Amino acid sequence: MTERRFAGTVALITGGSSGIGRAAALGFAREGAMVVIASRGAERGEFVRRELEALGAEADFIPTDVSQSGQVEQLISRTIARFGRLDYAFNNAAAVDVGVFKLSADFSEEEFDRHIAINLKSVWLCMKHEIRQLLDQGAGGAIVNTSSVNGLGGVPQNALYAASKAGVLGLTKSAAQEYAKQGIRINGLVPGGFDTPMLRGVFERVSPEDPLAAETGLMQAVPLGRVGRPEEAADAVLWLCSSAASYVTGHSLIVDGGLTAAFR
Ligand SMILES: NC(=O)c1ccc[n+]([C@@H]2O[C@H](COP(=O)([O-])OP(=O)(O)OC[C@H]3O[C@@H](n4cnc5c(N)ncnc54)[C@H](OP(=O)(O)O)[C@@H]3O)[C@@H](O)[C@H]2O)c1
Repeated sequence: MTERRFAGTVALITGGSSGIGRAAALGFAREGAMVVIASRGAERGEFVRRELEALGAEADFIPTDVSQSGQVEQLISRTIARFGRLDYAFNNAAAVDVGVFKLSADFSEEEFDRHIAINLKSVWLCMKHEIRQLLDQGAGGAIVNTSSVNGLGGVPQNALYAASKAGVLGLTKSAAQEYAKQGIRINGLVPGGFDTPMLRGVFERVSPEDPLAAETGLMQAVPLGRVGRPEEAADAVLWLCSSAASYVTGHSLIVDGGLTAAFR
């Protein structure tokens, strides 16, 4: 019988309609959690909600643009209205298609602002409202924020994404220290390459003639010799939220098949 580590708990996953977020939502659902997913597109969101319900979970999809303060506030209040509490939050939504693949001096100010709003401010907004809720409940909780190996160093032609993902780790490690005494653990997931629509979109933009060549190039750089499956990132998130990680906070968990092992 599958272990149900999250029976009776409530998990909120932004970007839960696709890729790593969807895999985490399904993982929480399989292990007994009530799951709220949030993203912008209703079609994919409703599809995943039905997948979660097909697993026997209580689930909701709440259409949300996580870069918008009012929408994030509503996301948390609607989660509480539906399920009464919050135990785990996976702040994972992000987009790479906001003005990427330019030299640093070529980005516009508008592109900078959009990138930071969607990939960094969003995480702070989500944490702000989630932490307030967890403090009100007074029973601790766990938050995981998605960074990227691109946030560990600089990335040519992708400076804004790299900067936003480095910022996610700054937010994570600061808040982890602030709320540890209240039993709220806050950690970062640092993914390498995972087979999701986002990564496939990157391959197509990097190598429009032959996206497979870009994928092969990545696989050759990864010691484990392949791109990760979204479930392999989700498993790390579930572990960080589980009681097995009860002494882990302020950590950035790199899950990259060894991609960055040579320089970290
Ligand atoms: N895949 C990789 O190789 C990789 C590597 C390193 C880091 N990551 C990080 O892992 C996370 C998940 O990526 P993924 O590969 O699973 O991507 P994905 O399959 O493209 O999923 C992204 C999710 O985020 C949602 N989203 C995007 N912008 C949003 C916004 N403004 N408000 C609310 N939801 C939004 C998308 O739905 P809508 O578009 O409908 O809103 C979708 O559900 C991201 O933080 C990404 O930066 C991925």
